Parts: sequence; C-alpha cells; structure tokens
Amino acid sequence: MLASLPANLSYQRPKGEQLQEILEGFVATLEPGTRLPSERLLAERYGVARATVTQAVDELAGKGLVYRVHGSGTFVAEPKFRQPQTLTSFTEDMRARGMTPGSIVLAQEVAPASAVIARHLQVVQGTPVVHVERVRTAGGEPMALERSYLPAGRFPGLEAADLTDVSLYSLLAERWGARVTAADQWASAVRLTEEEAGILGVDAEQPALLFQRVTHDQPGNIIEYVRSVYRGDRYEVHHRLERIELESAPPPGAGP
Ligand code: GLP
Repeated sequence: MLASLPANLSYQRPKGEQLQEILEGFVATLEPGTRLPSERLLAERYGVARATVTQAVDELAGKGLVYRVHGSGTFVAEPKFRQPQTLTSFTEDMRARGMTPGSIVLAQEVAPASAVIARHLQVVQGTPVVHVERVRTAGGEPMALERSYLPAGRFPGLEAADLTDVSLYSLLAERWGARVTAADQWASAVRLTEEEAGILGVDAEQPALLFQRVTHDQPGNIIEYVRSVYRGDRYEVHHRLERIELESAPPPGAGP
C-alpha cells in the first residue's frame, strides 16, 4: 500500500503540511474501512518525527476523513452526505446521491399538540396533530431518525397512510395538494440517547446533528414541524456563502 504514496517530501514547504496533503489524496483513493499504514511506518518513510505524522492524521480525523480505533489503527471513514441548503426531502437528497431512500415507521398517530409542538406549528395547545416517527435509511442503512408533527385537520387520514419507504412530501402533494415551498431550519449538535443510538445502529458516544424544521406550504401556512436526528459520522452541513458588498452610506448632506 505504501508503494502508491509519493516517495519524498520536498524541502520547500513545511513537512506536516505536505504530509497532510499526501495523506488526504491517498485516503480519497481508498475504500471506507481500509486501515492506513501505521504512523511509525509513515514517519520512517518520510523521515519525519512521529509527532508530525500524528498531527497530520489528527487533521484528517478532524475533517472526518479517517477515524482512530484504539489499539487497532486508523481507518478510512465512510464518505459524508451533505445536507444541502435548498428545501429538499430526504428522498430527494438520497436519490441525488444515487442511493435508495427508505423509511421504517416506528410510530404514527393523532395526538393533542404539546405546548412545544403547538408553539412551532402555531396552533392552540391540544390541537390534534399527526405524529410520525420514522427511521430514514439509505441503501438500507439507518441515517436519521425523524419525528414529524403535522396539523391533523389539514391532513385528514395521514395517520393511517402507509408511509413505509414513502416520501412524506410527495404524499402531502399528491393527496392533499400541499406543496412545500419554504422552511426555517435550525441545526445543533446533540448527544444521542441510548435508544436513538440503538435505532441508528451507532455508538451512543458518537455525536449527532439535530435539524429542526418548520415547513410552510404555498399560501405560507405551517404544515410541519420536524425534529430529525442525523448521524454525525455520515452527515455534514454545507453552506455556500456569498459576500454581499454593502453599499457605503452616502456622505452626510448628500442629496436624495
Ligand atoms: C428531510 C427533512 C424533514 C422532512 C423530510 C421529508 O429529511 N429534514 O424535515 O420531513 O426530509 O422527506 P420525505 O419526503 O423523503 O419523507
């Protein structure tokens, strides 16, 4: 495996920086789960201190490209899915990546809105809401756990619809003519509960991302509040940032 790595570092740039670039390129060519050559071997090959290699590997681990297993070595991580900034559904996100989306329904019922749910849906507490809890899968692998709350009056019968491997957004459009057009979404880092970790098939110590979304339909009504817990090892959020040049304020006394 070492044979496919460049033989030498150049003298012109910091060694750690070069090593990191080399390893990043190398990791991109390997299958997830592949073990990297040991840090000792890499240090010997490039004639650098072991600490320099450790630091380069730390950088890769920080980017989520590799992970360490105590006592076994460093392994290539699974690629991360990007959460886009556009309003898409899980089904669309997965299909765009060539993956087969799926859902396993854990709960589906009508219940009175709690104070928190009522606040997000902007309804009176106790208003009937359809609560749907689904494990979202990609290629059969659990990716996220979603708890959605929708006003029952707007979607009569939703509590009885078959949501297994179905896109909720497609169903809302087909059966109730509801087109999602805008959403407010908040992302935060959370710890998984033991139960959530078990459902997602990951270690409870692993970080996760919580997305809360309040979704609006075409006339602007709130049609859903969702709490989605995504695996932190498989997801990253991508923001495209464009600089808006602020016009400088007109000088005092300038005309209209
Ligand atoms: C994403 C969003 C959820 C939304 C879901 C709909 O996962 N985080 O807020 O409910 O998509 O996806 P689908 O139409 O595939 O059920």
